[in-house]
Amino acid sequence: MRGSLLAALLGLLVMLAAGKEDLGLQNFNLTQFSGMWYEIALASNLEHQSSSPGRKVGAVIVEQDGAHLGLTSVSDHMNLCMKEKNQAVKGDTPGKFKLPLDSGGKEVIVVATDYKTYAVISIVPHGGEKPSRVLKLYSRTLEHNEKATEKFVEKAVEQGLSVSDVQLLTKDLTCVNLLS
Ligand SMILES: *[C@@H]1O[C@H](CO)[C@@H](O)[C@H](O)[C@H]1NC(C)=O
Repeated sequence: MRGSLLAALLGLLVMLAAGKEDLGLQNFNLTQFSGMWYEIALASNLEHQSSSPGRKVGAVIVEQDGAHLGLTSVSDHMNLCMKEKNQAVKGDTPGKFKLPLDSGGKEVIVVATDYKTYAVISIVPHGGEKPSRVLKLYSRTLEHNEKATEKFVEKAVEQGLSVSDVQLLTKDLTCVNLLS
């Protein structure tokens, strides 16, 4: 009895923590967030995401476009560089954005950032009650940043992922170079 009560309480705490995370950043500043970010790590519980060894780093250019957010990105999908241009709209809380339905209707949530060095982004599929989660670590530079990586692992665990779901991307600029 005691054990199951404890388990229930722990479950509640995890839910509360997750709920807090979903609020994004209260003082999110889009102007400071704009510019170029390298995608340097990924954490996901999706099979096809994690079973892609040697995945190259990607990048995204964030531009403020009125009430919208312009996102031009390149990323490595199974050894193919994919370039995408999306326009996201602001969501109901600061740091939360929604991609239009024709680009998947995903929600993009800024989970943590210091604007100058790193950002942790959560990507939630449209209508996703399924526990599929993708967390991405972005960096202003390609230099290894231990603090950012630690923060990323911490956030991944908070979101129910495990350390083994975290994948550092290979410093191969093939995809990134497509942005310029
Ligand atoms: C966002 O940051 C910019 C640049 O630092 C600053 O000028 C602006 O006042 C900030 N906006 C808000 C709402 O804090």
